[in-house]
Amino acid sequence: MTAEVQEKPRPTTPYERLGGLPMLRDISNRFYDLMDSDEAYAELRAMHAPSLDKMRESLALFLMGWSGGPRDWFEANQGRCMMSVHKPFAISTDVAGQWSSAMTRAIDEVLGESDPPLAQEMSRVLDQMARSMGR
Ligand code: HEM
Repeated sequence: MTAEVQEKPRPTTPYERLGGLPMLRDISNRFYDLMDSDEAYAELRAMHAPSLDKMRESLALFLMGWSGGPRDWFEANQGRCMMSVHKPFAISTDVAGQWSSAMTRAIDEVLGESDPPLAQEMSRVLDQMARSMGR
């Protein structure tokens, strides 16, 4: 009889379930592509700098730490929270809804087929975060 190896269950972070940074870069890039191309997000787009290049990587790195992966973004930003990053911007409830809509679409397109429950949960919590910035 062979001895059974008792494997301790290892907690899996959302970051690991998501497939790491490449998947988060795909979501971030799709999000900014949608923001940049769909008239429904024109007001949100107008609040951002002409080039979205820096934002694409910045959002991916934020999502990496936020989902339980390496915390590069938080270290580079001295642990600042997203709410304080957005304090200088006057965010209407309409614009918060635009952010949430573009993000839900991006997540759905990139992750919706491979892991529908994770896609839904990620959209739900980011929707909450975005809407809590609107007033
Ligand atoms: C609620 C609606 C939101 C609006 C209107 C908004 C708008 C903005 C604007 C105007 C900037 C500066 C961009 C620039 O300099 O070109 C910014 C930065 C940023 N936003 Fe948002 N944002 C929203 C929600 C969110 C949410 C929910 C997240 C995270 C899940 C997020 C993540 C970021 C990141 C990572 C940065 C860059 C910060 C940095 O690394 O310097 N935003 N946002």
